[in-house]
Amino acid sequence: MTYDVLMQRAIDVSKNAYAPYSKFSVGASVLADSGEIYSGCNFENASFGMTICAERNAVGSAVANGEKKIKAVAIYSPNQDKCLPCGACRQVLHEFCDNDSELDVIVKCGDELQVFSLATLLPESFSL
Ligand code: THU
Repeated sequence: MTYDVLMQRAIDVSKNAYAPYSKFSVGASVLADSGEIYSGCNFENASFGMTICAERNAVGSAVANGEKKIKAVAIYSPNQDKCLPCGACRQVLHEFCDNDSELDVIVKCGDELQVFSLATLLPESFSL
């Protein structure tokens, strides 16, 4: 499985985003330890704070399918180049990896893919 495949899944699912308020669509796909890919898009609500980000939707789908560890996540928005995860989603991703430096976060920058480690995006993270 290449990161191109993972990104394509994020691109595909971004088409299902429900974003009538922000008009900002996002798709995310996570690669679990098992090798399976799980996808999610953002879905908004008239009560704005109820909005769920694409990344958390994808992580939720992985967890619902029995996954406990995530190796990589690809994120895509047709509305923004290099669409990086928000702070809340970074913390949620942190929950599902043993080591932040081993979780790859992949974004699309023009025609190129850019890869960050979660450790770079969420330094000094919180754990219990
Ligand atoms: N959004 C995501 O899906 N992921 C992020 O990491 C940042 C923001 C969504 C939430 C909302 O529906 C829209 O993008 C604008 O904030």
